Amino acid sequence: MHDNTITGFSKLTKDEKISWVVNHWTDQPTQAAQILKSFWHQEDDVQKVIDGFSENTLTNFVMPFGIAPNFKVNEQIYAVPMVIEESSVVAAASSAAKFWLNRGGFEAKVIGTVKEGQVHFSWPGKREQISPVLDHLCAFLRQDSAHLTANMEKRGGGMLAIEWLDLSHLETDYHQLKVTFETCDSMGANFINSVLEQLGQSLKTFLKNESGLPQHLRQVDIIMAILSNYTPQCAVKASVSCPVADLDNACEGIDGMAFAKKFQKAVRIAEIDPYRATTHNKGIFNGIDAVVLATGNDFRAVEACGHAHAANSGTYSSLSHCDLSDGMFHFWLELPIALGTIGGLTRLHPLAKLSLELLGNPTAEQLMQIIVCTGLAQNFAAVRSLTTTGIQKGHMKMHLQNILNHLGADADQQELARKHFENHTVSFTAVRSFLDALTREGTNAG
Ligand code: MEV
Repeated sequence: MHDNTITGFSKLTKDEKISWVVNHWTDQPTQAAQILKSFWHQEDDVQKVIDGFSENTLTNFVMPFGIAPNFKVNEQIYAVPMVIEESSVVAAASSAAKFWLNRGGFEAKVIGTVKEGQVHFSWPGKREQISPVLDHLCAFLRQDSAHLTANMEKRGGGMLAIEWLDLSHLETDYHQLKVTFETCDSMGANFINSVLEQLGQSLKTFLKNESGLPQHLRQVDIIMAILSNYTPQCAVKASVSCPVADLDNACEGIDGMAFAKKFQKAVRIAEIDPYRATTHNKGIFNGIDAVVLATGNDFRAVEACGHAHAANSGTYSSLSHCDLSDGMFHFWLELPIALGTIGGLTRLHPLAKLSLELLGNPTAEQLMQIIVCTGLAQNFAAVRSLTTTGIQKGHMKMHLQNILNHLGADADQQELARKHFENHTVSFTAVRSFLDALTREGTNAG
């Protein structure tokens, strides 16, 4: 057995886990243990809650929690909480929010809130053989899962339609129950999955007892029951628009029409070139993921859904679009997105709870709108920089700060460096050389 393997790690106490990890996997165990423990929350109760989110927890991984103020969405002003490690993202969102604040703000519309799940199963028949009893089956499935759906129904949601899809032309004996749900203010993953698992069991029971069917069709093999993270019917359209003339100051020295045309061309390139589309959409998710994380929602689900949507024409393409007509600039983003403002981490994580409070405790629909607008703002800021100054100017300004912190520059050195690098290209080597020169000058002067 290899020295660095272990059985029963999950059963160890937190201190024992840390001790095992630092002693087996680091060169300086005392220091490593100190680092890990230094990120524990000072209040035991809070730490216990955070530990409970996952398994084998040793400590907390800290990320910056920032605010992008001045977001006007559907005439309402928001200060949007964002959790992201990448420099420039919050600055870009804030700058785009401010830009559109004076040009009517963002408009957002919920296109739908319907989510989907599937029970995948093998059944050696054809759809027409089940058709005669399909109504009866659906009634039975609803009745058999009523104990799980009752609460959601009280809140105005529940199971919507149940469809039997015969997909045996794609895969031998493959059929599916495609089920739609309304989950109100919760993201609904647990609710949907519990109901789907019940439907799988109920389907088995129904077929077993369906004496009108030939014996071989009274058996079914449930392959799996799970929600789909692709939610084309749970989506938001966010948009901004203004007269092209109002874009005159979108970037210093560039006139509105020239800016708008170049901007539109850049969006068009992302529509036709999957390589560019990937980066373009990544920029959108810089904004979206940051708010999704801050509000305790599932950013992997949101990403997977967004990218599936970006590829739904068969070619991966831009999620946002731009149009110039009648002297107007229109820029919009239509995105399927499943979010919750109750359930999951949204109320358990103290910072997620606070984020929602900062946003005025929105409904899931309001949060969907705010978040898709943040994605559009981020995209606007990125494409504006790319087509005017270039992205590195803003990026490197923020990056300079990280390098200065990393190299331990004091306040005076930081001030001098910021001035110097206004007109010089930032790189780690250049900053280090600059600081070395300052130190030499200081030493010589001394
Ligand atoms: C960087 O994180 C995001 C951008 O690359 C997005 C884009 O290129 O549109 C700036």
